[in-house]
Formats: sequence, C-alpha cells, structure tokens
Amino acid sequence: MKIMAGNSNLPLARAIAGYLELPLTDASVRRFADEEVFVEIHENVRGEDVFVVQSTSFPTNDNLMELLICIDALRRASAKRITAVTPYFGYARQDRKSGSRTPISAKLVANLITTAGADRVLAVDLHAGQIQGFFDIPTDNLYAAPVMAADILSRSNGQDLMVVSPDVGGVVRARALAKRLDNAPLAIVDKRRDKPGSSEVMNIIGDVKGRSCILIDDIIDSGGTLCNAAQALMDDGAASVTAYLTHGVLSGSAVERVSASALKELVITDTIQPSDLAEQAPKIRVVPIAPLIGEAIRRIADESSVSSLFD
Ligand code: R5P
Repeated sequence: MKIMAGNSNLPLARAIAGYLELPLTDASVRRFADEEVFVEIHENVRGEDVFVVQSTSFPTNDNLMELLICIDALRRASAKRITAVTPYFGYARQDRKSGSRTPISAKLVANLITTAGADRVLAVDLHAGQIQGFFDIPTDNLYAAPVMAADILSRSNGQDLMVVSPDVGGVVRARALAKRLDNAPLAIVDKRRDKPGSSEVMNIIGDVKGRSCILIDDIIDSGGTLCNAAQALMDDGAASVTAYLTHGVLSGSAVERVSASALKELVITDTIQPSDLAEQAPKIRVVPIAPLIGEAIRRIADESSVSSLFD
C-alpha cells in the first residue's frame, strides 16, 4: 500500500500516512512557469495499491486538476489499484439541476475522476449520499459523526443536549448524530420566505429553551446558514449553541462572521486545511479526521469491513 499526496492538504496526508506507519510516496506535484500542473513519481509503484489524498477545496479547480494528473501518472506507472481519497469533495453541492439550463457539476467531476483512472473513491460526509451513485466505481462515504459524538460526549458534563439541523435538508444527518448522543432530542431550523423579496423568517421546530444546542451541518462556507441559525436558537431561549461541521470551507469573511456570532464554539474537522486565521480564532477548534480516514484506508487495503467503523 502507498499513500501519495497532492498539495491541497499535506498536513492531513502526513497524518494519515503517520496513522498507517508509512512514509508518503516520494513524488513532486508542481507547476510549470505557466501554472500547468506537473507530477513526477520518484519511486516504483508498479503493482501497488495506491491512495491519493487530495481534497478538492479552494483553489478547487487547481486541486481537482492535481488529483486528476496524479491519478494519470499512477495509471501510466502501472499502479495495481488507485483510490482517490477526497476528504472534501468539491462541487458536491452542484448535485442536481438547480434551474433550467444549469449543469450537474458533481456528476461531471465524478466522470473526470473515473476517466483519469481511479478504481475507487473514498470521501467524508458527501453533501448528499446519492453522489456515490455518480460513480460507477466503488465509493466509500465516511461519516464524521463518530468523531464528533466522541468529542461532544467528552465535553458535555451532563448538559441537556439538543441536536439541531440548521435546515430541513440536514435532518437525516442530525438524527444520526442524536442517536449517537444517547438519543438526544432533535430540533430543526426551518427557513421560510412568505413571498419572493420578503425577508427570511426562521422558525424553530422543537423546544430549545434552556438547552445546550449542538448544530450540525456538513459544510460551513460563508457562515450565513450557521450564524443565522445560532442567532435564531438563542433568540428562542437556547442556553448555548455549539456547532459541529465536517468541512470548514470558511470562505470570504466567514471566520470573522463566526467570531462575531452567537455561537459558543465552532468545531470543524481538518478535511480542508484550516487557514491561519481559522486556527487562531478563539471560537474555532479543529478535531483531527486522519485516524478515521487512516483506519478506512487500512480496511480497504486489507479487504475488511469499512461500514463496521460506524456500528
Ligand atoms: C447546504 O446545503 C450545506 O449543507 C450548507 O448548509 C451550506 O453550504 C452552508 O453554506 P454557508 O455557510 O455559505 O451558508
């Protein structure tokens, strides 16, 4: 087995390799003067089971291109099996036609990864489980919920927890976390506009008064969804709001927004390498995802069960 890395999240790739007690494959993934991506593998990979770790996070297109070219280089170097490990799978939110004459970019990206030569895919908390079906190769979708639940339980001190989905679309994810927290009760933030152009109204489904709320979502991008939901919960009488998000996209002024929000704490995993600003923000904490990904890789290589990681 070999672990190769693109440049999108080298600390995570090193941590995964460390978990597996392997060195990273000796390769260079660099740019020509005109910014074309060039990949050179400096060791023999013929007949090897190779896992390429590359989140397709910002700069999304550059990181995606690096992944595709790494896979191409491995295929031409006769690797036996190539697994694209995309801890964060960019373009996942474009998983359906959002209007007339719009693309389904997540499907296009799945086609690109497959055509480049990947034999399998390993991702974490895909925005929608159905994205697995965009690939006609085996695709494992890992859940960060066990990592989050362990963190929440280690800090809860017997508080009255309530798991909250920041929108109706995230209820399945929230319910799965609630189950891991001794069947904690569930609430939902329901966003509505009475008519086009009127301002958004946040209705809370569930009684959050006096509760320590755990907001859960897959992605924090601009921070709008989360910070507005946190404010609505506090306005409704919640004792505190802590948020657990798998993918800290944190674009634009999201870190400042979180810092100024009603959130007590934002906990993210490092599927995307956190920026220095995010690392230094007192309200943001990062929990490592490498042990989960490393264990899944070990099991894929050993041909043992991955799903039992989540029993
Ligand atoms: C949406 O369906 C996702 O699950 C997130 O809620 C969304 O991407 C968050 O975006 P933002 O932080 O920009 O509100």
